[in-house]
Amino acid sequence: MTGPKWLATSVGYEIYPRSFYDSDGDGVGDIKGILEKIDYLSYLGVNLLWVGPFYPSPLDDNGYDVSDFKNVDPRLGTLADIKQLIDECHRRDIRILFDYVMNQTSDEHPWFIESRSSLDNKKRDYYIWSKKPNNWGSFFGGSAWNYDAQSGEYYLKIFSNKMPDINWSNPQLRQEMFDIAQFWLDLGVDGFRMDAIAHLGKDMSLTHSRKKSEGGISYDWSKFSNREVLYDYLAELKSKVFDHFDMVSIGEVGGGAKLPDAYKYTKTIDMVFNFDAVWCLNKDGSVNVPQLREVINYWTQGMIKKKQLLPQYWQNHDHPRLMSQYGNPAKPKASGKMLATILLFLYGVPFLYNGEEIGMTNADYQKLEDFRDVSSQNYIQMHQDSLSEADILAHLAKNSRDHGHLPMQWSNKKHAGFSQKTPYLKVNGNYKTVNVESQMADVDSLLNYYRTCIDLRINSQYSDVLTMGDFKLVETDSNEIFGYQRENKDMIITVLANMHDKTVSYQLGDDNLILNNLESHTPGQLDPYQSIVMVRQK
Ligand code: NOJ
Repeated sequence: MTGPKWLATSVGYEIYPRSFYDSDGDGVGDIKGILEKIDYLSYLGVNLLWVGPFYPSPLDDNGYDVSDFKNVDPRLGTLADIKQLIDECHRRDIRILFDYVMNQTSDEHPWFIESRSSLDNKKRDYYIWSKKPNNWGSFFGGSAWNYDAQSGEYYLKIFSNKMPDINWSNPQLRQEMFDIAQFWLDLGVDGFRMDAIAHLGKDMSLTHSRKKSEGGISYDWSKFSNREVLYDYLAELKSKVFDHFDMVSIGEVGGGAKLPDAYKYTKTIDMVFNFDAVWCLNKDGSVNVPQLREVINYWTQGMIKKKQLLPQYWQNHDHPRLMSQYGNPAKPKASGKMLATILLFLYGVPFLYNGEEIGMTNADYQKLEDFRDVSSQNYIQMHQDSLSEADILAHLAKNSRDHGHLPMQWSNKKHAGFSQKTPYLKVNGNYKTVNVESQMADVDSLLNYYRTCIDLRINSQYSDVLTMGDFKLVETDSNEIFGYQRENKDMIITVLANMHDKTVSYQLGDDNLILNNLESHTPGQLDPYQSIVMVRQK
């Protein structure tokens, strides 16, 4: 099994720092805010925190555009605060991971300022420059190249214009990046979520893509995704830095990564986040259960076969809210608990995203200007001449990354108890009913159900089978049921979940019920959004 010993019994929780809790009343979440809420994490029961980017940044892309990798954005706190956060997590047996932003810097990073200053600057080659742009497209829409008037050339930027890609083929640049990892590990962090690692290797011939193009742009990710050379970079990072720490490395691999890619990644890093389970929707917007079963099974079996772990998650800061995507905001308790059940008993390391545990939903924004995310703004710009405002709003209501960034809903007080001041991003209107405080007071709440599931997973007589046991899908041709079994030498745990809003039946003998998200259970039947967990001792 790759990764440190503690990894298999971890339950992760991602915090988006600017939206978690504002301790100093400036409308923006901060590190001291996380410290103030740290006992909430223990209460929830998670033991592996992933803290999103808190580095100095012009915030073109929510902090993934970093202008100083070894520091803390003064609006969010200080290095001393971060050190305190690491220590306070450790005091509570919580491990803590930071985002290691590896594919790009901000255009306001000193390296880029130098690089663009002249063609012969010694940092020119820290970035990828070309006299003429090729037809590659960017993830955020439009060309992957931006013209730099200062030096008269184009730089590669596969995300936003303000995020020039760094050139990992340059050994000096690589060493600088390794020093950054070393810096945070020396400070005590337990590892990294490694941002956008799929893109560290580019086709440096910079030739046009021959794949289909639209308006001269080809959205052909293969030119800069999952390319062989990046595994050498990761191997170097491992031998120079990672091997010297008891740490975990989790790479974010998009760009269409599949198991053969994952096997290559996990030679050097511990786990990979894939994206396949995020958008399994039918045309009418309902969850496509067969597809979801298939992708989760594919990844889980694939990693078990190699005795590897994998992170399991529904949604993160780049996605809509789980309750709006796969749940039903009109039936939040039942559907939210059903989703918790499926996720928290899977093989691997489950990760929650802040707010998921109380069923936060997509924002109810009615105005285009409420959407702030760079990809939402790009979408608006690209479509404002061709689509009506209502159509743009309808698209954003489902897809915008702003939903993931919503201020955490702590209570029914002003600004959702997130801040004393109007938050930097508008709070969602439903905070009066959907909030942590009210769910803490209700034993039957979604929040308390999450606590129960986490506890069952890591602190109960079922912990061994739920963390280390084998995994197999319950065979079914149902379009509604997601079912699987976990098995070890002593017992079989069966999880059955109905992901749709109608009553369905199942053909499986009933074992001892240990968890039910509804009040009652009729054997052989699952009510709308019902999920049950059963055990059979061997
Ligand atoms: C993936 C991050 O999750 C996303 O938020 C960001 O925009 C890109 N990487 C670029 O860093």
